[in-house]
Amino acid sequence: MDTKTLLEWSARYHTPNYARTPIVLTRGEGARVWDSDGREYLDFGAGLAVASLGHCHPRVTGAIQEAAATLLHVSNLYHSAPQIQLARLLVEHSFADRVFFCNSGTEANEAALKLARKYGKERFASDRYEIIATRNSFHGRTLGALSVTGQERYHHGFEPLLPGVKHVAYNDLPAMARAMDSRTAAVIVEPIQGEGGVHVPDDGYLPGLRKLCDQAGVLLILDEIQTGVGRTGRLWAYEHAGIAPDIVTVAKALANGVPIGAMLCREEVAAALTPGSHGSTFGGTPFVTSVALATLTTVLAEKLPEHAAQMGDTLAEGLRALGRELRTVKAVRGRGLLLGVELTHAAGPVVDACRDRGLLVLSAGERVLRLAPPLIVQPADCRRALDVIGEVLRRQAA
Ligand SMILES: Cc1ncc(COP(=O)(O)O)c(C=O)c1O
Repeated sequence: MDTKTLLEWSARYHTPNYARTPIVLTRGEGARVWDSDGREYLDFGAGLAVASLGHCHPRVTGAIQEAAATLLHVSNLYHSAPQIQLARLLVEHSFADRVFFCNSGTEANEAALKLARKYGKERFASDRYEIIATRNSFHGRTLGALSVTGQERYHHGFEPLLPGVKHVAYNDLPAMARAMDSRTAAVIVEPIQGEGGVHVPDDGYLPGLRKLCDQAGVLLILDEIQTGVGRTGRLWAYEHAGIAPDIVTVAKALANGVPIGAMLCREEVAAALTPGSHGSTFGGTPFVTSVALATLTTVLAEKLPEHAAQMGDTLAEGLRALGRELRTVKAVRGRGLLLGVELTHAAGPVVDACRDRGLLVLSAGERVLRLAPPLIVQPADCRRALDVIGEVLRRQAA
């Protein structure tokens, strides 16, 4: 079917909630994708920070083929080996003792919020159910995750939201301390705010939150849905801060594009999830967990967090050089391969112009260009991306 007809049908048959770019992607390999007219693009979004091993990685494709020919689905009434092995691998490579599997980031956050409420009520008091989140955060679209998301534009029209949620400024420890009281069950934050504009907190922020939470018996939930699985140059972004959270939520890159979510937590906290208290039909099927196993073992074996740190330095250096040259670049932020370029003007036209030149990039809010390429990118890919971004920004500045 030709591209024009596909786009017409999309306009006619989809709900109108996505402002999609008018291209149809048909094929991918490594850090490149192709559209239905045969045009090639360098993918510096990796979907939305998902395809960390690149597109159609042979180990991922192999795991998908093997699972499809063996056993796709097992309900959580029964055990399946890949789910058990993945849980073990995640525990061995994180702070966590226990893992719950679901299907997306927002669901992982729902699990975390429900667990925090149950733990707070059972361990402390029946009114200990409040959650403190941060302004400008993004935690997902289901009603619980939406309620802790600190951006009103996502709330609009969906109120009333979950009761018992407070928002305080990100990177502001005194504000967090003031907001905490005997009703606070948990604090939820992103170690780096991704969708909200790629904001990296001060070095003392996460250790400070850990301390505040310890003093008040409050759970510290870190949303690593975008930052996790190596993106920031460590397997988990909390490692940069040298702390251990109580709960971490993961999704996006965990199975390199096959939908999965996971909530990792400490033993004592996990105990509140008694049999029947939470669950998921599709969570952790042998299919998705074997793909996640292939992904995570590859990320570890190929030391991709370290590679992401190196490539991130190259990219950030190039972007900072552009910042010195162009007044329209206000700031370059981020860590590893999660980078944001704050502009003095809208990022949308830059995203479009990059795409016209064969480079896919993301935005984060109105004025921030967001780069989240696959972790396997090579120096030549980074140089090409920098050339395109430089050319586009220079033209826009002229
Ligand atoms: C930090 C963070 N949390 C949660 C989500 C929601 O994940 P999902 O779209 O898989 O529900 C996202 C998605 O962008 C995210 O970046």
